[in-house]
Amino acid sequence: MNLEHKRILLTGGSLGIGKETAKLLVDAGALVAITGRDHIRLEKAAAYTGAFPICADISKEDQLNQSFETFIDKWKGIDVLINNAGIGSFPSMLDITMEKYEEIFRTNVFGPALLAKKAAHYMIPQKSGTIINIGSTAALKSFEKGAIYAASKFALRAMTEAWQAELRKHSIRVMQINPSEVATAFNNQERIEREAATNKLRSLDIAYAIKSVLELDDRAFIPELSLWATNPWNL
Ligand SMILES: NC(=O)c1ccc[n+]([C@@H]2O[C@H](COP(=O)([O-])OP(=O)(O)OC[C@H]3O[C@@H](n4cnc5c(N)ncnc54)[C@H](OP(=O)(O)O)[C@@H]3O)[C@@H](O)[C@H]2O)c1
Repeated sequence: MNLEHKRILLTGGSLGIGKETAKLLVDAGALVAITGRDHIRLEKAAAYTGAFPICADISKEDQLNQSFETFIDKWKGIDVLINNAGIGSFPSMLDITMEKYEEIFRTNVFGPALLAKKAAHYMIPQKSGTIINIGSTAALKSFEKGAIYAASKFALRAMTEAWQAELRKHSIRVMQINPSEVATAFNNQERIEREAATNKLRSLDIAYAIKSVLELDDRAFIPELSLWATNPWNL
């Protein structure tokens, strides 16, 4: 895909992986809209990236619908959806609650599902389009206190595979990218970005991977890609 003038909806573009991805894609000539819950963070990211800001919480169906309509009104269609917005919660299985499960699944699973459905309605008739789900290495292997977060990313991975099976015959590419730990504001309630460290993955590393898989010719796609830091232990 040549990114020039491609219409890209990227959720969670106000911080971290989404923000750096939006910048790379705008710099490559794409038309990018970013979403996020906090208006001020979003406006700052829009100034940094050159992307179009749409303030919306994807865990709320009315806001999700409104954000998609705003995007379509602006660019009259969609070429790429990047389901990047995600949140974490890591309680012991002894402390889980229905509310916590719902909160995480609304953002990490239900939001991406509804947005992909909306995008597919445009992509199927045009016989082109790409959907990228940002999973996690937690989508591949769970861990202690991972019952909520890893389960949400396993669910996202299941949806990726289902959409691949449904949409390939319409020439639509569905890919999942699984970062391991990235130094961002992820799981920080104050939303403060973590200091970069030479041995840890940066948001930019994931952004390069996203841009690279998008730029493959439309006849090709990478179903799933995992990114690890080379030496996170700094041995
Ligand atoms: N950082 C890691 O170690 C890591 C590893 C593997 C996978 N991932 C995945 O990578 C993705 C991006 O994470 P990140 O590290 O860049 O996290 P981050 O720095 O916390 O950024 C998350 C972005 O999503 C937005 N967001 C969160 N919930 C939202 C909602 N309900 N509606 C709309 N926007 C929402 C946030 O903005 P607001 O807070 O303003 O809404 C922010 O722009 C997530 O799916 C995460 O699970 C991260």
